[in-house]
Amino acid sequence: MWLVLLAVLVGWTCFLLGDEDTPSRNAVRAFMHGKLDASKDVLEGLVTEKFGPIEEGADRMRLMSRKAEWNSIKTERYVQLSEEFRQSTEKLSKAAREKKLDSAALAWTQITLQCVNCHQYARDIQMTRIQPPGGRTVETAVSAVTR
Ligand code: HEC
Repeated sequence: MWLVLLAVLVGWTCFLLGDEDTPSRNAVRAFMHGKLDASKDVLEGLVTEKFGPIEEGADRMRLMSRKAEWNSIKTERYVQLSEEFRQSTEKLSKAAREKKLDSAALAWTQITLQCVNCHQYARDIQMTRIQPPGGRTVETAVSAVTR
């Protein structure tokens, strides 16, 4: 009896504290907004032909995509979309280093499509999640079969 109670208590405490690999939803939101700042720098760089901000913005986005906050969705498809995004930011960064405006603009177009695609996917997958009070999400088995 006591063992069962203890197990429940420990389980509940872990749930309340959350584990470090899964940042809270608000932390994820705040972090994700950083992409807009980087996007603005890239776009501004493209229209004023300043390659420094383009390269810097692209590199910032690529670094972001490796953080825990970015990787809060753990499906194969999400990993793949993230990898494609990284490849595009690498292309953008390279184009900026080589001062090729056309290539940079093309890479940026690809990236914006990837922003839209991945968000569409993220919305779909989040519909299959249960959201308990407190903002933590518990993935259901559904997401495992829909990826
Ligand atoms: C590989 C997937 C992926 C790509 C690519 C991606 N995002 Fe996101 N983004 C997410 C996820 C996941 C969230 C969190 C959604 C949520 O839980 O509300 C998010 C959230 C955001 C938010 C916050 C939205 C809110 O609800 O407050 C912004 C802003 C954002 N992304 C901008 C961008 C921009 C700009 C790009 C392209 C330069 C981009 N994202 C590319 C996955 C992606």
